[in-house]
Amino acid sequence: MGSFGGHVRPPSHVGTGPWLAAAAGASAMGVACRSHGVTADGHGQLVEGADLSQLPFLYGTAWKEQQTTELVVQAIRAGFRGIDTACQPKHYQEDLVGKALQRLSVEDNLPREKLWLQTKFTALRGQDPRRIPYDPKAPLATQVEQSIQRSLQNLGTSYLDSLVMHSPMPTLEENLEVWGVFERALQAGQVRQLGISNCYDPRAFQMIYEAVRIKPKVLQNRFYADSGYDRELRAFCLEKGIKYQTFWTLTANPHVLVLPPIRKAAERLKASPAQVLFAWLIRSGHQPLTGTRSLEHMKQDLEAAQMVLTGGSSYSSLSSRGFFGSGGLAAHQDALPPEVKALHIKGFSNFIVFSGSNLLFCIFAVTLASARFAFLGRSRSPYDEVLGEAP
Ligand SMILES: NC(=O)c1ccc[n+]([C@@H]2O[C@H](COP(=O)([O-])OP(=O)(O)OC[C@H]3O[C@@H](n4cnc5c(N)ncnc54)[C@H](OP(=O)(O)O)[C@@H]3O)[C@@H](O)[C@H]2O)c1
Repeated sequence: MGSFGGHVRPPSHVGTGPWLAAAAGASAMGVACRSHGVTADGHGQLVEGADLSQLPFLYGTAWKEQQTTELVVQAIRAGFRGIDTACQPKHYQEDLVGKALQRLSVEDNLPREKLWLQTKFTALRGQDPRRIPYDPKAPLATQVEQSIQRSLQNLGTSYLDSLVMHSPMPTLEENLEVWGVFERALQAGQVRQLGISNCYDPRAFQMIYEAVRIKPKVLQNRFYADSGYDRELRAFCLEKGIKYQTFWTLTANPHVLVLPPIRKAAERLKASPAQVLFAWLIRSGHQPLTGTRSLEHMKQDLEAAQMVLTGGSSYSSLSSRGFFGSGGLAAHQDALPPEVKALHIKGFSNFIVFSGSNLLFCIFAVTLASARFAFLGRSRSPYDEVLGEAP
């Protein structure tokens, strides 16, 4: 069992924070609160022996450079317990995540076991040639082994809770070679579970799933319109008990967040549109990531995990049928709670029934959203270009 500190009772701000605040805040908002069982008891403390792989939210550490340590400390003190990183110095300072964990161990007596750490193996084509964290000339299997050792060293731990293939390899053979090393690390106790990222083709994902002995427990994908919001993949993940993790959840969806119905739902819940979207994902059985740098947004994002969208419909059933996929909700309108109806993007025909002023507002909002989307798309596109892995 790895640790970077003894198991001492955490100070009051560790393990409480948002769970307690969320309970109080959400009650004040008239929003129902629900313990996830895995995260908090009635007093806001983490439940002993909780399955942390089921945490509602993960804190993402990409693009934080020298601020990584400070932001990870802040996120964990705010209440995050799941951390996502990668052995890819181009975008993630995994060693600085480790420094944050070390600091929390010393200053807050936070034991390793209270955290859920996920990292990734990134293939050579996704690495900065000047900062490759393994021997680029070594055979693929050795590269994977070295990457795992580097992650353990960077994070100052003897085990990883989750190890993810940053992107599928070009051939099934190479996927199996990487996975074989993953499986051996799991059998050796260095890794607790395995996953895949940036896999948007349901057939490719299922092929890997069928071919491997130890099945993936995570699929981490960009949650965006171009993939049809991974409707089929999300259903598959729910069926097989695989956590579907989302990134770009807000960045890729400004057009969703500005729709009048979602804004209305947010107003009614006294929440932000971002919180409504996060809450929906969590209630659907998925696991969003947030990489926010703002303490206020950290708290809001964690509060979303405690929000129950009212309406009484089954979120898991909605999830399994698809939500954001084309026409995904159209067939299930009657079963939908108001907030989910509010999120429904069936087409602009839905909104044209509004009064003239609302219609004008819609056109304005959509134009604004498209412009912002295009801007954000450009501003983040270097990630795709350099990673060269995401579709
Ligand atoms: N597997 C992969 O290939 C891959 C790719 C990309 C990302 N990731 C992972 O996913 C993590 C998250 O990345 P992301 O791409 O989803 O973006 P992100 O880093 O979470 O940034 C999203 C944007 O949302 C804003 N935000 C967050 N919470 C908000 C709230 N409650 N209200 C309003 N705005 C809010 C942030 O602004 P503020 O900072 O001002 O709050 C930021 O501008 C990364 O750190 C990384 O761990 C993985």
